[in-house]
Amino acid sequence: MNKTFTVKLESETEAAGARLASLLFKGAFIALYGELGSGKTAFTRGIAQGFGIDDIMSPTFTIVREHKDALFHFDAYRLKCADELYDIGFSDYLERGGIIVIEWPENVKEALPVERLDIHIEGSGDSPRTFCMVPRGKRYEEIVNAYNPL
Ligand SMILES: Nc1ncnc2c1ncn2[C@@H]1O[C@H](COP(=O)(O)OP(=O)(O)OP(=O)(O)O)[C@@H](O)[C@H]1O
Ligand SMILES: [Mg+2]
Repeated sequence: MNKTFTVKLESETEAAGARLASLLFKGAFIALYGELGSGKTAFTRGIAQGFGIDDIMSPTFTIVREHKDALFHFDAYRLKCADELYDIGFSDYLERGGIIVIEWPENVKEALPVERLDIHIEGSGDSPRTFCMVPRGKRYEEIVNAYNPL
């Protein structure tokens, strides 16, 4: 089942990410959809905080930022196709067991694992943000079922 919730503040978006972190398993794959400035990086910062990582910034100019072996944060904004993601070693990242979060996953659709957690964020600017979590596969359904949107 999908789960939808709405928040007003950036800090609430971060808190929503941090609550998700506690439910994730090694190698979990999170795809974050949403327009520019919707809060994908803010949500990722929250996930990272959940793992005790506090230096999340937008990886737009690097495509991937590694946070030890715990979290690999991709931003596919500037990529045109899945091949470009494989060119920077995507397959290796998938094998290393860290949590993978990817912004602009629609740009690299063919590279997304079938089993994953899709999260759509609607809203930008001063508007509230509505999150819709769409689990793909049983393990992600369990996560979304257990997730407390507050
Ligand atoms: N409820 C909210 N959640 C998240 N961000 C918010 C919220 N309200 C306002 N903001 C602001 O919106 C912006 C979100 O920026 P962020 O970098 O997280 O977006 P993004 O989706 O990663 O964008 P991009 O596609 O450019 O990477 C920030 O400037 C933040 O302060
Ligand atoms: Mg971003």
